[in-house]
Amino acid sequence: MANSPESEDPVKAYGYAARDSSGVLTPLTFSRRSTADKDVRFKVLYCGICHSDLHFAKNEWGMSTYPILPGHEIVGVVTEVGSKVEKFKVGDVVGVGCLVGSCGSCQNCTNDLESYCPKQILTYGFPYHDGIRWLLDHMVADEHFVLRWPENLPLDSGAPLLCAGITTYRPLRHFGLDKSGVMVGVVGLGGLGHVAVKFAKALGAEVTVFSTTPAKKQEALEGLKADHFIVTKDPEEMRSVASSLDGIIDTVSATHPIEPLLTVLKQDGKHVSLGVPEKPLELSTYSLIMGRKIVSGSATGGLKETQEMLEFAAKHGVNADIELIPIDYVNTAMDRVLKSDVRYRFVIDVANSLKAP
Ligand SMILES: NC(=O)c1ccc[n+]([C@@H]2O[C@H](COP(=O)([O-])OP(=O)(O)OC[C@H]3O[C@@H](n4cnc5c(N)ncnc54)[C@H](OP(=O)(O)O)[C@@H]3O)[C@@H](O)[C@H]2O)c1
Ligand SMILES: [Zn+2]
Ligand SMILES: [Zn+2]
Repeated sequence: MANSPESEDPVKAYGYAARDSSGVLTPLTFSRRSTADKDVRFKVLYCGICHSDLHFAKNEWGMSTYPILPGHEIVGVVTEVGSKVEKFKVGDVVGVGCLVGSCGSCQNCTNDLESYCPKQILTYGFPYHDGIRWLLDHMVADEHFVLRWPENLPLDSGAPLLCAGITTYRPLRHFGLDKSGVMVGVVGLGGLGHVAVKFAKALGAEVTVFSTTPAKKQEALEGLKADHFIVTKDPEEMRSVASSLDGIIDTVSATHPIEPLLTVLKQDGKHVSLGVPEKPLELSTYSLIMGRKIVSGSATGGLKETQEMLEFAAKHGVNADIELIPIDYVNTAMDRVLKSDVRYRFVIDVANSLKAP
């Protein structure tokens, strides 16, 4: 379903790229495709920094090919549409998330589950198709992978919804953790985690945050309106919520023990991994057998559900707590994400800070 890049745009794109597994981003000028029939070209306004950008820039998943131009929470304004584009016109505000291509014909694609297409093309890591991301002034993408921006959704603090939002909203819906009275745990209060709390609350759940950072307690309870806060490293606090939750949304980016988290699930409770640590999980089957627990995972979401999520977020006032930064702060920001030193998402003010070389 991705347009074939038939020709190169004569105007070079520019951005910031990682050249090796140090993950350090430096300016890069490169070619991208011209606007094809079904393409939308837009001026990039904002882009969030997701922990996946760090994993990818540092080749922590062993699949990076350099140069890497990270960034996949992108909001912009349309400047040109191809002759067969139906959904957009010049001047529309749009978003692009994790995906810019998929096969369009497999069982997943035909069921609006493009994020499970075996031939999916990620916004980052496939240099030709997207071209740009944080780092350039314009991006070109097939209209199928471009989202309409709801009128009352902020552009800067809404940008992280394009990855953090859909990645947390989808499993809450899919695993039935979207009803009044359902007991939901959110593990890791970072970019994904804090949005998960907001969506779970908006869907009616009672939310318990599990964190390694006691200093986040007040923010979680007062700012994010979580109902409870548990420090995962405190065995007594963990025991106080034993067998109490219907499901857990686990957003931790680093290798961490899963078994203590299974003890806080009720019978038939579900643990859903969203984080992608470098090392595999360690798990005894005993911890699953006792209580018929389910361990699962979830990857972002399809385009239809991403659009649905944006509409829901606009209606319920869900967006990210952000620190808006200029592009030249990006390496410092990446270091701070690694140290969990951000409340709770960096968003780059691309249009106002990216200058042509
Ligand atoms: N499934 C998908 O499709 C998908 C999509 C997007 C992102 N991801 C992945 O989801 C993960 C989270 O992304 P993010 O952008 O939300 O990251 P983030 O902002 O860095 O948040 C991760 C949180 O995990 C906790 N944490 C960090 N190191 C930890 C450790 N050693 N032990 C225990 N907890 C730790 C911290 O929360 P506390 O301080 O509260 O403990 C931290 O704030 C990443 O691995 C990312 O690649 C997956
Ligand atoms: Zn992401
Ligand atoms: Zn497919």
